[in-house]
Amino acid sequence: MFHLKYLNKFLWKHRSLLIIGAFFILISNIFALYPAEFVRKALDSAVENISTNQNRNAKLILLKYSSLIIIFSIIKGIFMYFMRQTIIVMSRRIEYDLKNEIYKKYQILSVAFYKKNKAGDLMNRISEDVTRVRMYLGPALMYTINISILFYLVLTKMFSINAHLTYYVLIPLPILAISVYFVSKNINIRSEKTLEELSRLTTISQETYSGIKIIKSFNNEMNLFSKFVKHCKKYTNKQLYLVKIEAFFFPLIITLIGTSTILTIYIGGLEVIEGNLSSGNIAEFIIYVNMLSWPVASVGWITSIIQRAAASQKRINEFLQTDNEIKNYTNKSENISGNIQFENVTLKYQNTNITAIKNINFIINEKEHIGIFGKTGSGKSTIINLICRLYDPTEGKIYIGNENIKKLNLYNLRKTIGYIPQDDYLFSGSIKENITFSSDNFNEENLLESTYNAELQEDINNFNNKFNTIIGERGVQLSGGQKQRLAIARTFYKKPDIFIFDDCLSAVDAKKEHKIINKLKIACKEKTCIIVSHRIESLKNLDKIYVIDNSKMIESGNHEQLLKKRGLYYKMFLIQKKKKFD
Ligand SMILES: Nc1ncnc2c1ncn2[C@@H]1O[C@H](COP(=O)(O)OP(=O)(O)O)[C@@H](O)[C@H]1O
Ligand SMILES: [Mg+2]
Repeated sequence: MFHLKYLNKFLWKHRSLLIIGAFFILISNIFALYPAEFVRKALDSAVENISTNQNRNAKLILLKYSSLIIIFSIIKGIFMYFMRQTIIVMSRRIEYDLKNEIYKKYQILSVAFYKKNKAGDLMNRISEDVTRVRMYLGPALMYTINISILFYLVLTKMFSINAHLTYYVLIPLPILAISVYFVSKNINIRSEKTLEELSRLTTISQETYSGIKIIKSFNNEMNLFSKFVKHCKKYTNKQLYLVKIEAFFFPLIITLIGTSTILTIYIGGLEVIEGNLSSGNIAEFIIYVNMLSWPVASVGWITSIIQRAAASQKRINEFLQTDNEIKNYTNKSENISGNIQFENVTLKYQNTNITAIKNINFIINEKEHIGIFGKTGSGKSTIINLICRLYDPTEGKIYIGNENIKKLNLYNLRKTIGYIPQDDYLFSGSIKENITFSSDNFNEENLLESTYNAELQEDINNFNNKFNTIIGERGVQLSGGQKQRLAIARTFYKKPDIFIFDDCLSAVDAKKEHKIINKLKIACKEKTCIIVSHRIESLKNLDKIYVIDNSKMIESGNHEQLLKKRGLYYKMFLIQKKKKFD
């Protein structure tokens, strides 16, 4: 329950809907209460009139009260409609606010956070958990208010008629509430297990769809099929078990309500014989008891909704309180430019305890075009991650334009940098949408220039729909090289001051790679460029190349200077040259 406190700020924000809703509940209950009294009056006066042979009178009285009951029921219905329109609407609005808050947090959190947590879990925060919380804010809250008001009104009425009978009639109700609580808790546990099994099934099917090529080429269809059937059976069994418990639910409720009704008739009958009650009172009491029993049954149900919501809100709270490792400390909006300097920088990834770079020092002058060379796993991408401030260094300092990178406005920094990662991400949508992703202002000339610089113009011309070609989820309809060149075009379109290519030409053929790098040199003459690669061919014409090996910087210089050093660069150059001619 304590965890749900977090929602109070939202309840306060939407308090007007809540208060109006509660008011509607009160009115609808008042109109629900009177029909019972009408039934008693109708019965009593009809019996009296019939016993004195005034049948016509009796008919008129019955007609009058029946009409009154209908009118009151309609009014009650109208106010019930309003009560849903206010309280359920409120819960939807809070759901909206909460989802936005969670989504905002997702956007702020660092890359390290996403490496630690599974995407499915994260999705659940915003969908499943929020839905459960909404069930508390909507139905649970609405029925709680409703039950409180109803109990107050009905019990006052019952006690004012006959306290003795009231006590007896109420006996089965707590038993009803408690048993419903246990049954619905059981149902929830079971249905959760059923859902888990269902999501396992979904995962299997999803993996099958996305891995269909591999599955077919390995002739693995039957294996997967039997795996699917196995889980399907498990799911069915769990579902059947759930149905058994659910089947038990209604008879239980009906039996307990029935007990109350029988008690009313029996004890009430004794009271009538003693002259304490009229026979109309018994009918009135039966209606009251029925009015109470469903709400009492729902107490158990509401309790379990609230418990589930509390568990979900606990997870949401934990998520919202996650500390973001990469913080923006300033809102200064000045331009970021100048040299990029690493001073004794070390980075240890917390999740794997790998020290990816050790004591790195270098200065990249403004407008310089430099390369970073090294084998896979040597720490190249880590250096780039640090320049983009996706991580902060464990030791040492990074400066851009003589200002510590942590003191720069994070959003400005990201705007200044055009970064193309190794494994780039494309969004489902058209080529045009993907290239112009960085800006809302469309510029035709910029689009053409970017595609030209990324060597993508030919491919686009060959597509039927040109720029409007839909590339499918994650760009499945493109080849590896096309995807990489599209990502490069996207960065050209952004027109950043610092270009960073992180091994993003790996799937591009050598000829095109050469062309792209030459175009980059012309287009970005006035810009800082950092090109990361394990292919010397891509780097040899750059102003300066840094060689990284085993997390350390071991050599630097331009191509000629590095060859003369006869170190790792020279060795790799010979190997790669040999491969080229083999
Ligand atoms: N996000 C990460 N979390 C934990 N370890 C990482 C992460 N990224 C890279 N590493 C590890 O750091 C080392 C250097 O990786 P990386 O900088 O990507 O090398 P390169 O780009 O030169 O191939 C590798 O051992 C890799 O496993
Ligand atoms: Mg890398």
